[in-house]
Formats: sequence, C-alpha cells, structure tokens
Amino acid sequence: MCGIVGYVGGERCVEVLMEGLRNLEYRGYDSAGLALAGPDGLRTAREVGPLNNLAGTVGQRDGDFFSMRSGVGHTRWATHGRPTEANAHPHTGGGAPVGPEVAVVHNGIIENHAELRDELRARGFEFRSETDTEVIAHLLGEGVAAGSSLKEALVETLQRLQGSFAVAAVSAAEPETVVAARHQSPLVVGLGEGENFLASAVQALLGYTRRFLFVENGEVAVLTGTSVELSTLDGRPVERDPFEVDWSAEAIELGGYEDFMLKEIHEQPAALQATLAGRLDADGSVDLSELGFDLSGIERIDVVACGTAYHAGLLGKSALERLARIPVEVAVASEYRYGDPVGDEKTLVVAISQSGETTDTLAAVEAARGFGARVLAVTNTQGSLITREADAVLLTKAGPEVGVAATKTFLTQVAALYLLSFGVAEARGARPVEEIKEIGRALRRSPEKVEEAIELLGEPGLMSAAVGVFAGARCALFLGRGQSFPVALEGALKLKEISYLPAEGYPAGEMKHGPIALVDEQCPVVAILGEGTLREKTLSNVEETVARGARVIAVANEDDVAAGRIAQSVLPVPNVPQILSPLVSTVPLQFLAYHVAKARGLDVDKPRNLAKSVTVE
Ligand code: G6P
Repeated sequence: MCGIVGYVGGERCVEVLMEGLRNLEYRGYDSAGLALAGPDGLRTAREVGPLNNLAGTVGQRDGDFFSMRSGVGHTRWATHGRPTEANAHPHTGGGAPVGPEVAVVHNGIIENHAELRDELRARGFEFRSETDTEVIAHLLGEGVAAGSSLKEALVETLQRLQGSFAVAAVSAAEPETVVAARHQSPLVVGLGEGENFLASAVQALLGYTRRFLFVENGEVAVLTGTSVELSTLDGRPVERDPFEVDWSAEAIELGGYEDFMLKEIHEQPAALQATLAGRLDADGSVDLSELGFDLSGIERIDVVACGTAYHAGLLGKSALERLARIPVEVAVASEYRYGDPVGDEKTLVVAISQSGETTDTLAAVEAARGFGARVLAVTNTQGSLITREADAVLLTKAGPEVGVAATKTFLTQVAALYLLSFGVAEARGARPVEEIKEIGRALRRSPEKVEEAIELLGEPGLMSAAVGVFAGARCALFLGRGQSFPVALEGALKLKEISYLPAEGYPAGEMKHGPIALVDEQCPVVAILGEGTLREKTLSNVEETVARGARVIAVANEDDVAAGRIAQSVLPVPNVPQILSPLVSTVPLQFLAYHVAKARGLDVDKPRNLAKSVTVE
C-alpha cells in the first residue's frame, strides 16, 4: 500500500508526479503529497484525503513551483499515525541550521522505528509526525548535513532500517538527482529521454514511458535526467536490461465509463479472451508449455492467496480435484505463512495475486520454499515481485485493473486455474483426453457467455429491482452450493467492500447452523442457484429463509421459472456448461454490489480503508 513516484529531468515534473499519483491512488488515498527540489531549497505540498485535495492546493502554487525539475510524490494508506497533514508524506529532514533539507517518501513499514526515534530524539531531533517514515528523513538529513552525498546518506540510512520499504528522496543540495531503494516493497525505474522516473508500479508512468528497469531487493537507484545507475548496498554496480510492458496508457483511463469498476466489469469478455489466447486451441487442447514444468510429477497442490484471489483459488480447487483428481488445499496466505505447512518437492504451490506484491502471499511462497515445493504464480502484473519469486508464471492478461474491488482479474484468475486443471489432468492421465478437450472447448466460449451475461443484465429495470430489495437493508446473506459457494463468497465480499453493508457468503446447506438467525426483511438473501441437484437443494434452503421473511434476489439461469416464484428479483445468467457457471454467475453479483453502492452515494473505485495492493502483513 502507499504509492510513491519520482521524477527528474524537465519542467513537467509536477505534471508527471501528479499524474503518477493519480494512477497509483488505488494503493491508498488517506493523504497525498509532493516535494520538489531546486537549488534554493525544497517546495512541498501535502493534503489529507484524496488526490483532488492535493491537486487543488498545487493549482494555487506560483510559477516557481512548476519550474522545478526533480521531485517525489506519495499517496498514503495509513499504517503508523492517523491520516493527518502532519503524517502525510513527503517527510523532510535536515534543514537550517544543520544543512540542506531532504524530502523522503516511503512505502512499507520500518519495524525498528521506535528505537531509531528514541536515538534521534536523544541527539536533539524533533519529530513532527507519528509516522515510522520520519526517522528516515532525519537520518538522511543528518547524513547530508554531515557532508555525505544523497546516495551515500541513503546507503548509510538503509543500513539502520529493519522492515520493508521502497523509499525515494530528493535533496536541495543535489537538485538534479533523485535517489531510491527498496527492500520487499515494489519499485520500478521508468526510462525516458532527458528525463527519468520512479514509481511503485508501472501503471503510474504508462503515459510517459513503457520502458522500465526493476529495482531488486537491496538495490539503490540514482537517477538524473540523463542517467540511471543501479547498485547494491555495498556499492557494486548492477547491470540490468530494461523491459517493455505491453499495457497501454488508454487502459488506465475511464474511456467514457462513470467508474473504473464499471469499465472493468465490461472488459471481462476481452480479459478472458486475452488470458485464453495461445493457451487453449479451437479443439479444446491446452498448451501450458510456457510454464516449463513437468506437471505429471505433482502429487498435491496448495493454493495460497488473499481476498478475491482466494475465492478464485477455491474455484480452482474444485476444477483441479474434479478434472485432475489431485488433492488440493486452498489457504488464506496470512494463515498459511504461519501455519507450518506440510509438503515436499512433489507439492505444487500455486500463489494467486493480481498485483503480485501482496506481502502475505509472498511470505506464503517463502514458507513453501522451506519444504522444497515448486511454485507457480498466477498474477496479472508483469515483472511483479511474485514473478521473480516463483519457478513459473501464468499471467492473467486482464490489463491493468484500477478499481479497488477486483472484477476482471477474478474472472481471469479462475480461467487461468481452469487451464491449469486441464494441464494437470492431461499430465496425470486423470480423464480421457477427449473429455478434457470438450470442457476446454466450453471454456473457449467464456468470453462470449460473459458478454451475454452482461447484456442480459442490461435489460431495463432488472438491476433497479434488485437494488430495491436492498432498500433499508442492514446486512445480506449470499448462499450457494458447490461451485456457487465461492461465487457467494465473492459476491458478499464485493458488496461489503464497496457498499459497507455487512454481508456473509455461506454454503446454502450450512446456513441453518447460524446465519439463518440473521434473516428478516432487512437482511436480503442473494441465492446463486446454479443447476442440477444442487440447484434443487439451494432452492429448498432459500424457501426456508423466505418462510422467515427474507427478501430474495436469485441468480438463476434465464429459463429458470421456479426462481421467479420465490425471489423478489431474478438476475438471469445464460445457460452454460458447468465449468462456466461460476464465471457467468459472478457478473450479476458485481453489478449488484456496484449499483447498491452507487445508490448509497459511495465511491465504488476507492472504498474507505481499503487499498488494492496490500504490502503490509
Ligand atoms: C486487497 C484488494 C483485493 C485483493 C486482495 C489480494 O485486499 O483490495 O481486491 O483481492 O488485496 O490482492 P492480490 O493483488 O494479491 O490479488
């Protein structure tokens, strides 16, 4: 969480920093700030709240502010200290009478900040914020005041820090330079002509460059307008080839949609198409040679993930077990990492992470390494930390996702896991090849079927009727069985994330063992009916809630007549082969959460307290 940017080179410094922050706002929006370096000192601007507040302040600054050629910026997700202006980054250090000022932005957590704070206080430093970051600013300022270059002072400072960080800093003493370093938190360098950039993620800079250099753990980057130098903490130069990303700048614009979440829901057919392309032939055969793995040697699979990715993992388990007949465990990464997991070199650990930088998921990968597992990362972010930790990577090709609530990346994660299940099934000879191919051909139709689901839900009045069921609601219960249970979990998560209504996803059959006590007119039941025997069973459970006064929204096949008899609102999905059912059933739940949140006047793209990338444990 927290986004950092840096720039050095030309006079568009403020523009680049603000645009970079705009594209990183998904990482946190408690406060934002800029610091610019010029020969006669630093200029800073900081504001509490979303970036627009900072933009308003910046807009009132004089021409001098806009003539600076280097600077750093930050958008904050508060960890240490409330979202106040004093706690907003950048934090400054040094300054008269001890020497020139430095300004620092930081993403991560400095674990030994309390000891460092005591030590600095004892040396006469005064603290202006409650943040862990301010110790970095003082240490750096002290080093520069003592005559070190900005880079030297950064290296000396880093040696004092424990924890995770990506930091970037500028100094009035060297206004042509931006320095940065990282340990565990993400950082990339963007390469330009006569200018260079830094950011937490590539999407910050797509409007300016597509050429990037990764900064690895323990490396320091020194940028000027015409050079980028990477080195290790002990001073060894690092040579690294740049890489080019294929995401376009347009992909992170609204393109006429009211919100990114709405845009990203509509992008799902294309995202699925891109994820399947080149991996699933017209005849349904799968090609995962890109993994470079022999999938036949695997005896069990552990899936680790957080949030929405965990729900994708549950659907992956159901496909892997059904098709490949291999035992699969799915674990929340923050539990797995501390859970002393059991496994060996025949265990495949599948780590799912949209961002590829979720701290707990990365730690779960490390835990799996401890027992010799092979690791496959399923991620949407090229070059992210997880791609460098894993033995193999299966990229979901959803394009950048800006809305904090995951939508298109969820569907593509599920599709990627389905591909994996075909690959493992084939390698193990678990099912007749023709049977797997037939399911593969069904999966090839997912873009078209998800498109149909979106169209069906566009019928006038459908969504407003469903939102009407939520009038006066104080909570919601999402029920499903089998594959529809993870869908229920995902539907409940979407609703609570963006509408702030308490929502539970539950296996419909288990509902009688607790959640049924919640049911009354103010606790709508959202039932994902699915098909076959489980549909019948779910319907009976829904009847039980109706008997207790529940108002029901049913996600049902378009020809499911019985659904209309028990539900106040039916959200239809196209009839599809079993494997596609979770994909099409998720779409109405995304729309439902979206419209309920909009009806409550909420910001669906930036829900309170959340961040899209969670880089703290
Ligand atoms: C945060 C986001 C969720 C996401 C989860 C895992 O909580 O708000 O949307 O599912 O992190 O993120 P990852 O990038 O690892 O998939």
